Amino acid sequence: MVKVNLDGVVREGQPDELLIDLINRAGGSVPHVCYHPQLGPVQTCDTCIVEENGRLIRACATKVADGMTISTKSAKASAAQVEAFDRILSNHLLYCTVCDNNNGNCTVHNTTKLLAIEHQRIPFRSKPYEVDNTNPFYRYDPDQCILCGRCVEACQNVEVNETLSINWEDPNPRVLWDGGSTIGESSCVSCGHCVTVCPCNALMEKSMLGHAGFLTSLKKSALSGMIEVVKGVEPETGYGSILQVSEAEEAMREHRIRKTKTVCTYCGVGCSFDVWTKDRHILKIAPEHGPANGISTCVKGKFGWGHINNGDRLTTPLIREDGKFREASWKEAIGLVARRLSEIKARDGSDSVAFISSSKCTNEESYLMQKLARAIIGTNNVDNCSRYCQSPATVGLFRTVGYGGDSGSITDMEKADLVVIIGSNTAESHPVIATRVKSSHKLDGQKLIVSDLRENEMARRADLFLHPKPGTDLIWLSAVSRYLLDNGLAHTQFLDQWVNGLDQYRKSLEPFTLEAAERLTGLSERTIRTVAHMIAEAKSTCILWAMGVTQQSQGSDTSTAISNLLLITGNYMRPGTGSYPLRGHNNVQGASDHGSMPNMLPGYQLVDDPEVRQRFETAWKVKLPSTKGLDNHQMVEAIHEGKLKAMYLIGEEMSIVDSNANYVGAAFEKLDFFVVQDIFFSNTCRYADVVLPGAPSLEKEGTFTSTERRIQRLYQVFEPLVGCQPDWKIIQDVANQLGAGWNYQHPSEIMDEIASLSPMFAGVNYERLAGYKSLQWPVAADGTDEPLLYTKRFAFPDGKARLFPVSWIGPTDQPNAEFDLHLNNGRLLEHFHEGNLTYRTEGIREKTPDTFVEVSPELAEERGIQSGTWVQLISRYGKVRVRALVTDRVHGKELYMPMNSVESPVNRLTSSHTDPVTNTPAYKEASVHLKVLNEVGDSPLPRINPRFGHPTPQGGVEVERKWKRADYAPPGNGNGNGLVQLQTKK
Ligand code: SF4
Ligand code: SF4
Ligand code: SF4
Ligand code: FES
Repeated sequence: MVKVNLDGVVREGQPDELLIDLINRAGGSVPHVCYHPQLGPVQTCDTCIVEENGRLIRACATKVADGMTISTKSAKASAAQVEAFDRILSNHLLYCTVCDNNNGNCTVHNTTKLLAIEHQRIPFRSKPYEVDNTNPFYRYDPDQCILCGRCVEACQNVEVNETLSINWEDPNPRVLWDGGSTIGESSCVSCGHCVTVCPCNALMEKSMLGHAGFLTSLKKSALSGMIEVVKGVEPETGYGSILQVSEAEEAMREHRIRKTKTVCTYCGVGCSFDVWTKDRHILKIAPEHGPANGISTCVKGKFGWGHINNGDRLTTPLIREDGKFREASWKEAIGLVARRLSEIKARDGSDSVAFISSSKCTNEESYLMQKLARAIIGTNNVDNCSRYCQSPATVGLFRTVGYGGDSGSITDMEKADLVVIIGSNTAESHPVIATRVKSSHKLDGQKLIVSDLRENEMARRADLFLHPKPGTDLIWLSAVSRYLLDNGLAHTQFLDQWVNGLDQYRKSLEPFTLEAAERLTGLSERTIRTVAHMIAEAKSTCILWAMGVTQQSQGSDTSTAISNLLLITGNYMRPGTGSYPLRGHNNVQGASDHGSMPNMLPGYQLVDDPEVRQRFETAWKVKLPSTKGLDNHQMVEAIHEGKLKAMYLIGEEMSIVDSNANYVGAAFEKLDFFVVQDIFFSNTCRYADVVLPGAPSLEKEGTFTSTERRIQRLYQVFEPLVGCQPDWKIIQDVANQLGAGWNYQHPSEIMDEIASLSPMFAGVNYERLAGYKSLQWPVAADGTDEPLLYTKRFAFPDGKARLFPVSWIGPTDQPNAEFDLHLNNGRLLEHFHEGNLTYRTEGIREKTPDTFVEVSPELAEERGIQSGTWVQLISRYGKVRVRALVTDRVHGKELYMPMNSVESPVNRLTSSHTDPVTNTPAYKEASVHLKVLNEVGDSPLPRINPRFGHPTPQGGVEVERKWKRADYAPPGNGNGNGLVQLQTKK
């Protein structure tokens, strides 16, 4: 600790602490307009000036030191603060009463008040630029922009999309997109970081404009008139009374604007934020306190909420009658579901019924779904969509380290010396995690290796990009392991102390020579050696992987090979190390954690363990089935075989997201009884006998578990639409109609039951998760959680990890003369999966209206294809018609098709081959024939898609350029005691 004399009081600070943080902690009142704790010092505003031993310094850019004497209120400091803020006001019109940003958190407003500014000494000067309204989600008003540069810092160094800059050398500086484009045509990915951190109303969500204030919905002419009135009275009354009026209006807003914490409904990163609402209108998403994301979001979490109030929402149960759906009451629908499930169970046995839980639903809902299956129907036939993506990674980790989850946290990925990304388009599929890696890579010297078929954004940023032949990651990973062991580069001390099975593992690596690896993967021996040395030399390595690894016929084995490599290099048990299978859906981790798996009860407790069963049987007062049930894949087979007769599926667009979609659809047609619970009439609903309208995340309470095993609470933002019900209530109603006698009044009671039955969640309760608090499992009974796993031991009885030998077999669906092209597939930043939710946000639809197939420039030339050419892709399993997009993201004869289509889903082309260990479909192993159709349309991606933009990377806001302006002098300079410009950020 260091001691600092702050305005006459001695305060203790951390040696590396910024003075502004110490002042704020001590309850001080120094203005600071450009400083934001999550951005660090930006140093553009000069309002945080304080006096230290007679000289003026910026509190935001000064680290505390022992013995410092600081005055925040000396005459010199105060004069400089006012002078600095005066300059800011010359860039901004104070019309707070009629401003949508007048919500108590406007930094400009609050600083005006703090400094008791009555009159502007430097008059307001309009900038010669128009308001830019060309982005569907936010707008920029140059006249209100105080040039603080927070937005630039956020875009350049937090989001690292590198779109924003300020033209400091221009006579009239402003924020620029791509150096001068309109926002709409720039590389802006609409992540919203800039809008979130803007301290005033220069950047604002369009959903706020005209909605937040009582007077702000007035017509522009009336509004301008009022602004003129405010300006007119200012010389006479001063700002004090104007602010009083605006504060009265702001106080009125507090009664009608609600701010409710939620967790994002889309991907597994687990971003959390406040949702600002007025009635059922979403004013904005305000991220700040989320433990996973802070100020960060991607376009989906920040702006993708159009599905909530969409007119297509299901609001009444539907029953199929004579081939058509008719509306039904809840009573009738639930009655029918219970009756038919009972009849089928009585006729064909419990195992003729199956359940599919949703990875979009809460942990509590997943728990109830498996309880319904096991305790009420008496079957272990329950699964969730982790079968489609994550199960192989879970197996790889179960085999080697013991827990089926990320071994650390997002902060570990940030800290790592080296990050290796395999088969993950992280910047699009897990955008906020990507920001952390991009930022560490850009600013902190982190090294990055990417292995992928596509040259995605992370690949372009990587120090080393590997493009192995499809399905051969296991080979180069094993060759790297062998090379490290053969050349004395493995971490022998770690292996001796913590790892079993080295001899057998070493033997299993015999086939993986560098020569063999080069031949089979297409990567040169030199490249593989480089990878090995980079890992050996890095102080800490994290490996991130996703569906490019897991959705292969050897997904489990490749995941195992990753963990093996981490073990031999000692990359577990320490911060900045470990294995990170990036979970797809918001709650795909939680759905499995809470027992929606055919072989596991909640908390990964095996159904065939009598002791475990006994515990659940006692609590649930039933006899439980003891043999493993069917997984999703086996369910489809069992329907075709006539063994499975009824299915209850929640929130899963299985008819198009499962592989070999035509085959899956054909199975659904054979079911005797099919219940689908969803918020929209999905494609899967078309096969249903009963459709039940559930509720989206904003209409219910519960918890989600993100990729870093982080359990977080979501609070109810809106009442469910009339006619809909939270899914946990629907499941309870069905169970009770079947005689269960459940009486859960609130999801917290369900969580209490989970905690009482699952040692892994023993200490989880709603109190410990209140607000933005979170827990990363396992959670001991006293509430201690484990952000970093294995710090003391691995999760095996002897505490040691296990090297697990694997061999390479090769992909199943190989190109041949007829199906000569390899088809890869995956997500797109803007859409989540097929887009059932995201297409309902107009701005997303506008920017990314359709799916497409990416074709390499070489193949395009060979086949006479241009962007917009319609092609037919034909596989052994089906065909789709789609427009081509020519791009160098793909190479040679490799195609890529994003999943964002219900009409032309890529899964009409994929096969039923699976990873034999988990039955996860080998989605990434597809071969197709491409037929060029005689039809050319528009490019499937419009010009306003950010992929056509031209980012302008720079170090940040580059305030030094501002300081070089002829018209800049540090405030307080007039009296000869000028500002000492201390350290800049990095
Ligand atoms: S990418 Fe766009 S929305 Fe995101 S911070 Fe940059 S300019 Fe703002
Ligand atoms: S637009 Fe950017 S530079 Fe302008 S006030 Fe907002 S954050 Fe600051
Ligand atoms: S989709 Fe993922 S990255 Fe984007 S805001 Fe939601 S949780 Fe965060
Ligand atoms: S807060 Fe802006 S310069 Fe310190």
